[in-house]
Amino acid sequence: MSALPRTGLRRPDGPAKLTGAARYSGDTPADGAAYAVLVGATVPTGRIAALHTDAARRAPGVSAVLTAEDLPEMPPGPLVQPIPMQRSQEGAIRYEGQPIAIVLAGSWERARYAAGLVRAEYADVRRAVVFDEAPDAVEREPLLSPPDETKGDVEAGLAAAHTVVSATYTTADRHHNPMEPSATYARWDGDRLTVHDSVQSIGITQLALATAFGVPFEQVRVICPFVGGGFGCKGYVWPHQLLAAAAARVTERPVKLYLTRAQMFTSCGHQPATRQTVTLGADAAGRLTALRHTSANAASRETDYAESATEASTWMYAAPAIEVRRRIRHTDRPEPTPMRAPHQGPGMFALESAMDELAYATGVDPVELRLRNEPETDPMTGLAFSSRELRACLSQASRRFGWQDRTPEPRSMRDGDELIGWGMAAATMDTFRFATTARVRLDADGSVRVECGTQEIGTGLPGVIATIVSDVLGTDPDTVEVRFGDTELPPAWMTAGSSATMGVGSAVHAAATELKEKLAGFGGRPPAAAGFLEAEATWGPEAGSDLAGRSRTYSMHTYGAVFAEVRVDEELGLVRVARCTAGYAAGRIVNPLTARSQMTGGLAWGIGQALLEKSRFDGRFGRFVSKNLAGYAVPVNADIRELDVFFVDDHDPHASRLGAKGIGELGAVGVGAAIANAVFHATGVRRRDVPMGIAEVMRAGEGRS
Ligand code: MOS
Repeated sequence: MSALPRTGLRRPDGPAKLTGAARYSGDTPADGAAYAVLVGATVPTGRIAALHTDAARRAPGVSAVLTAEDLPEMPPGPLVQPIPMQRSQEGAIRYEGQPIAIVLAGSWERARYAAGLVRAEYADVRRAVVFDEAPDAVEREPLLSPPDETKGDVEAGLAAAHTVVSATYTTADRHHNPMEPSATYARWDGDRLTVHDSVQSIGITQLALATAFGVPFEQVRVICPFVGGGFGCKGYVWPHQLLAAAAARVTERPVKLYLTRAQMFTSCGHQPATRQTVTLGADAAGRLTALRHTSANAASRETDYAESATEASTWMYAAPAIEVRRRIRHTDRPEPTPMRAPHQGPGMFALESAMDELAYATGVDPVELRLRNEPETDPMTGLAFSSRELRACLSQASRRFGWQDRTPEPRSMRDGDELIGWGMAAATMDTFRFATTARVRLDADGSVRVECGTQEIGTGLPGVIATIVSDVLGTDPDTVEVRFGDTELPPAWMTAGSSATMGVGSAVHAAATELKEKLAGFGGRPPAAAGFLEAEATWGPEAGSDLAGRSRTYSMHTYGAVFAEVRVDEELGLVRVARCTAGYAAGRIVNPLTARSQMTGGLAWGIGQALLEKSRFDGRFGRFVSKNLAGYAVPVNADIRELDVFFVDDHDPHASRLGAKGIGELGAVGVGAAIANAVFHATGVRRRDVPMGIAEVMRAGEGRS
């Protein structure tokens, strides 16, 4: 590829989104549809003894109230969360909020009102098992990935160490909270199903619906115009999507189902709380002799979602002995699911906090400590790195931040009443990649159209596609039309795991390149008779990669370095992140403008993890307490000050056809540790539990005196 524009392309979809012209799945014209509202269980355990629906049925405008008995059996497909309603014939309740009835009415307001009239009687309700209070709960090994990995002799490495640090860190339950709550419109025409849905994978949704209703997948069409944020909670298929389609089938009428904001806290996942212990041994110069990282997370009653928080500890640092272990605890709660940044987000908070503790214990500067432990090859597997520019991130970001002016002693920097703290952490993320097909068409009038069954979840993917295709064909990117979000287009897979630029981008690049070669055969313009010329191509990760497209040929990851300045008002316990400087190595950057937005968004997300975000779980009632955005604090504009983001030169020829790797989730990694490390530098108090609320920082101050 030739040089890409330095500033980047503005989002082609930006004006439509800003003016309200953009259509989301919930905006699908009602078209005679009934509005559906789910009724959720109000208890976390037990069974339904009786369900009273008469009052709801009699309410104005109500056309039907459906319970488990009214619905077809729906066999689960791939990546589908359990559909509890079909099992409620036996009446088992496994989490608060579990759907127990669907109310259909002529307007959403009427459906919602009537849903409040459904009354359930429960039996055998017992106290919920809660993660924090369940030391004796069953601990299980997660199913999907190796729970334990070991290299060398960790005990010997610790015994030989000059310095050992060991501590336990916790991260909180968090909810994705996209601006757009999930919404599904479903319509049957005989045995053909059309669904407009807000999802991160129309393909998975199509497969799940086809499996559930026993129809060929070609007879299911899923359309996803835009997604108003997903962050993971629209990646898998959830009960409400199948229930909307089932209700449409049973009532022989289109159905529009919206989740309420409160239902978003129980119906499409959350990032589960983790408890992690990191033990590091090092020689007098700070070189690691042993690294042990264990993690447990809260899973739900019937599934084994594992937050793989220990993964990065196998590839980050050159320790001769490494041991990681992951466990899950089954609790009475809704399903957890991946949330930006899954695995490395919670995991690197612990590892990078521990590295800071080691820096203080050994007296080695935190940046220097990381440089001294840079491995030449993957520490666990011995595989070569596909590309690894962590050194460049560390040295360039530290220079831009002004790290050399830091005085390392805690409480040594101050500005009037405020304690100043400077902290840093490294960042890393997995490289997930999915096979994708794209079609590019050039018309005689010079206009270009790209078609790919991917989805736009807010990252700016259409601009990335337009940039790539216009670069290959030498056309104006503003004239490129990008079609996506429809299962009738060439297939793509999930928009998740920061994979879209690699998968979709490579497929688009391959198709555009093929089109260019074809064009050469026609003298550079589409044949006059047809009036257009098109090419289609598929790209996928190299053979031997795992199901999520992770390489087993190379150690393939993205890297970054995050530096944070906090200002702590000791009397109020208030922590403010005054500025962040972050440098990232994520392969080739295709559209610098939207890439930068991804990273600043990630930093804001990480500030939330460190300081604000926590879904409190009430053990007495077995439910998440916060069910709206007033009870769940996230950073607002006033919390976000100066964010200085840059990318170092990197090109990964193994990760994708473009030399690009993933960026979105990387930005949310390392921020929490950088802030906690800065708070330690400011106050001398180590915060090992996030979020650190005002009360926690104040209590820490009291403990100190
Ligand atoms: Mo992401 S948490 O892989 O959508």
